[in-house]
Amino acid sequence: MRAEQQPIVALTAYDYTFAQAVDNAGVDVVLVGDSLGNVIQGHGSTVPVTVEDIVYHCQCVARGLDRALLMADLPFLSYADEATAIDSAGALMKHGGAQMVKLEGTQDQAAIVEALTIAGVPVCAHIGLQPQLVDKLGGFKVQGKDEQSANRIVEDACALEAAGADLLLVECVSAPVAERIRAAVNLPLIGIGAGVNCDGQVLVLQDVLGITQGRVPRFSRNFMPQGQSIPGALSAYAEAVRARTFPDATECFE
Ligand code: KIV
Ligand code: NA
Repeated sequence: MRAEQQPIVALTAYDYTFAQAVDNAGVDVVLVGDSLGNVIQGHGSTVPVTVEDIVYHCQCVARGLDRALLMADLPFLSYADEATAIDSAGALMKHGGAQMVKLEGTQDQAAIVEALTIAGVPVCAHIGLQPQLVDKLGGFKVQGKDEQSANRIVEDACALEAAGADLLLVECVSAPVAERIRAAVNLPLIGIGAGVNCDGQVLVLQDVLGITQGRVPRFSRNFMPQGQSIPGALSAYAEAVRARTFPDATECFE
């Protein structure tokens, strides 16, 4: 799709009914994200989410998909070493039905990505802001704001590609930093809070449907006013990603 300049539409789902709706809307990649810690379980972060939680929601989602690729998050500490990562990915794929796993990382996780790759696990590397590190970072902030940290994220992308990652996802970097990452790799780059010049976009389902209470990230968009219904909002999101009308300038970081 990158080679054909076809934008990749990705969205989270956590259950069977919404998986069907998301699949019917023509979403290409459905993510069982560890954001389920926030939007399903009501935790303040993704830290408490377990492999078992992701497996359960993957099973529910897998039954609802006909067409989309099913990607599942490896939760916090489920890939801290190579053997643990392989066990965790095995559970997501064998029991959950996931076709690709996603892990948050930097070049420090290259050996883990390589071990998964050698074992035959398709991997998406999630770079930039790593929400699982919220307690270490002290909050959710835009990443790569100075030259040195931007260079470091570009290096992370290259190292994870070289380690065998099949897909990259970048969160919360300025549009120019996302463009630098994209230019440095051959892999497709899916963005969230990373500007319009990525190969695709991902959002959290509840944000797209406008049902998230309280503070919503600046980079997400409620598609319900435009779509008028759940299927309408999901289709409007898919269309906006394909037409590159999402995100707009107000939904990006400078
Ligand atoms: O857990 C999640 O939903 C994610 C996406 C927002 C990228 O990782
Ligand atoms: Na996640």
